[in-house]
Amino acid sequence: MNLNYENAVERVLCSENEIKEKVKIIARDIENYYKDSEKKLLMLGILKGSVVFMADLMKEVHLPLEVDFMRLSSYGKGAVSSGNIVIKAGLEKKDLSEYNVLIVEDILDTGNTLFWLVNYLKREHNCEDIKICTLLDKPDRREKPISVDFGCFTIPDEFVIGYGLDYNEMFRDLPYVGILKREIYEK
Ligand code: XMP
Ligand code: MG
Repeated sequence: MNLNYENAVERVLCSENEIKEKVKIIARDIENYYKDSEKKLLMLGILKGSVVFMADLMKEVHLPLEVDFMRLSSYGKGAVSSGNIVIKAGLEKKDLSEYNVLIVEDILDTGNTLFWLVNYLKREHNCEDIKICTLLDKPDRREKPISVDFGCFTIPDEFVIGYGLDYNEMFRDLPYVGILKREIYEK
C-alpha cells in the first residue's frame, strides 16, 4: 500500500454533504420526468465508476424501477477515452423497447463512451427513450455532441477521484470527489 489517501487529494471539489443534497435534487427531477410514463424505468449503471452514485441515487428515486449494469472499456491514450468501446459485461435483457432507459455514469468527459453507448442501445436493444444521468460533467473536453440530462456537478478540466472514480483502481471508496494531485500521475 504505497498510495497515501490523505496526501493524494489536492482539493475537495464535491463534499459528502454537497453530493447528498444534489442527489436528492436530481432524484426529484428524475421522478418528475418519468412519473406519468407508461413504460417501465430501467436504471443502467456503467461499471465500475457509477457504483457509489447509483447505489445512493436508486434509493432516492421513489418510482418503481429495475436496475442493470454494463461494463465498458475504451482503448485510448492515457486518461483520454477513444471511440473504440468494448463491452466487458452486457445487459441481461435483449429487447428494451418497453423501458425508459436512464444511463447512470460517474462522469461525462469527452463523451466518446456515452455517445457510443446511446447508439448501441438504440441499435441492439431497441431503446427509444434514453436519458443520461451523471454525477459529474466536464464539458471542456467534449468531443461528441452529447449532453447530460440529469447532472449533479459541472467541473473544470482536472483529473478527479473518489465517490466511485478511480486512479489506477484506487480511491473509489473516498466519500467525496477530489482533484488528484498532479505529482501522483505525472511522476
Ligand atoms: P468519456 O466521456 O471521455 O469518459 O468517454 C469515459 C470514462 O473516462 C473516465 N474518466 C475519469 N475517471 N477521473 C476518473 O477517475 C476523471 O477525471 C475522469 N475523466 C474521465 C470515466 O470512467 C468515464 O466513464
Ligand atoms: Mg466510467
